[in-house]
Amino acid sequence: METYNAVLAADLPDDPPWQEAQVREYLAETMPGERRISWVAEDDRLPEGESKVFGHVSILLCGDIGVLEVLVHPKLRRRGLGEQLVGVAARRAYLEGFSSIGVEVIGSTAAIGFWESLGFEREYVETRSVLTLSKLDWEALAKMAAGISPGYRVEYHPGSPPSDLLEAYAQAKLEAQSDDDDLELTPRSADPQRLKDSLDTLHRRGLKPYIVLAIHEASGAVAGLTEVVVPAQHPERADQYDTIVVRSHRGYGIDRAIKARMLFELRTAEPGLLEVQTWNAQHNESMLKVNAELGFQPDRDWFEYGADVAQLVQTLEPTD
Ligand SMILES: CC(C)(COP(=O)(O)OP(=O)(O)OC[C@H]1O[C@@H](n2cnc3c(N)ncnc32)[C@H](O)[C@@H]1OP(=O)(O)O)[C@@H](O)C(=O)NCCC(=O)NCCS
Repeated sequence: METYNAVLAADLPDDPPWQEAQVREYLAETMPGERRISWVAEDDRLPEGESKVFGHVSILLCGDIGVLEVLVHPKLRRRGLGEQLVGVAARRAYLEGFSSIGVEVIGSTAAIGFWESLGFEREYVETRSVLTLSKLDWEALAKMAAGISPGYRVEYHPGSPPSDLLEAYAQAKLEAQSDDDDLELTPRSADPQRLKDSLDTLHRRGLKPYIVLAIHEASGAVAGLTEVVVPAQHPERADQYDTIVVRSHRGYGIDRAIKARMLFELRTAEPGLLEVQTWNAQHNESMLKVNAELGFQPDRDWFEYGADVAQLVQTLEPTD
């Protein structure tokens, strides 16, 4: 936690520091069928477990891709430690039979130069935006929340969608998947069982989901959904997950109405919450427009980089 918070202070000084709440679960719990393997770097002059952890790498093995996370204490950077840590995880991914590796890289930080020096290539870009609850125009939001066309009903479900709606919920996610050209480092759960597993995993990791749905009353279909997660590790800043308006239900004010309703619900349910952050592809103009109306302010770019595992292992081979 100390190292993680030192990294945050150096690289993302406006992000809230983490608290010691379900951090072990956050790191250790995964979706069924996925595995996360972690290593820490410690001072080898002290007995194991007695020194401070000053570097960490983990690889999440999911589907056919390994997803890396690396961090090195700001005081110990540019000594080759980051590269060594990536080497350990990359060799493991190679031995496990994985051929590609991905990583999320935060714009305007040392990580860009680091991953590019290892031969990683930029594959996807999003912009992170942050909304500050204390600055919101609640009157304007109330109008947005009420501005949905007749024939739709908005529902709020803290924790999980109700079980009788799981199938319709998964169906809405499935339809949205074709609109997305993301690298899928965090694939959507598009069948009911996987959706349930994914909600259970969130809860086990200390990530509390809140869901607002738009139901098309004539058919009972889920026409739109928005998900916000409040992490036990930083409950003052929530993460916006998916927002989906099914193509045939677009143009009826659903996006604005469900997101505005979500903010009202969060204000009551999470009194400690100060901000919500979201990530959007730059080409997703209609969603960016609605987010700007709600009060989201662009913060910084967020990239997905990828590399071929065999090539990476070769690049990282120690040279005498
Ligand atoms: C990225 C990170 C892991 C690099 O760790 P490190 O131990 O300093 O990296 P290394 O010393 O192994 O660097 C290897 C090479 O990467 C490149 N590199 C590393 N930092 C760089 C920088 N600031 N600018 C340009 N290139 C850089 C260099 O080519 C370097 O080789 P050199 O020092 O011989 O020139 C570290 O900066 C970090 O922890 N960043 C924060 C990670 C993060 O964003 N976490 C998630 C959110 S908190």
